[in-house]
Amino acid sequence: MRIELTVNGTEHAVDDVWEGESLLHALRERMGLPGSKNACEQGECGSCTVYLDGVPVCSCLVAAGQAQGRSVTTVEGLADDGELHPVQQAFVACGAVQCGFCTPGLVVSTHDLLERNPAPSDPEIREALAGNLCRCTGYEKILDAVRQAAQ
Ligand code: FES
Ligand code: FES
Repeated sequence: MRIELTVNGTEHAVDDVWEGESLLHALRERMGLPGSKNACEQGECGSCTVYLDGVPVCSCLVAAGQAQGRSVTTVEGLADDGELHPVQQAFVACGAVQCGFCTPGLVVSTHDLLERNPAPSDPEIREALAGNLCRCTGYEKILDAVRQAAQ
């Protein structure tokens, strides 16, 4: 089937999408947007987090067909004309990126948190990022990055 959707402000028409195909697969394999990562494909790790109509979702759990006519923003869409978003800059500056697999999802979730709550407490940061798993950093540098981005 064909789906038509807006991704990072650009309209896309995507053919040959199969029933049950995830939005994550369509983004990565059909639209050339590999930023969102596929780590578990079960809604457990958050590495595939994107905005769907402004709401963060695990794109591995959303059927591509469900995105018909809707608006998606991926981690690539947070950068502005090639310049990293301040959240992205903070992750780099604080060393919160090691293997980087979790990073796109954490960046989107942090962006969402700071949109809703520009000055979160540490417990609020931990709660907001509870759905994003990182195997590498021990989370301290991620917390540093969120605090820096908030500043
Ligand atoms: S790949 Fe979607 S939650 Fe892990
Ligand atoms: S940096 Fe490797 S999983 Fe988080």
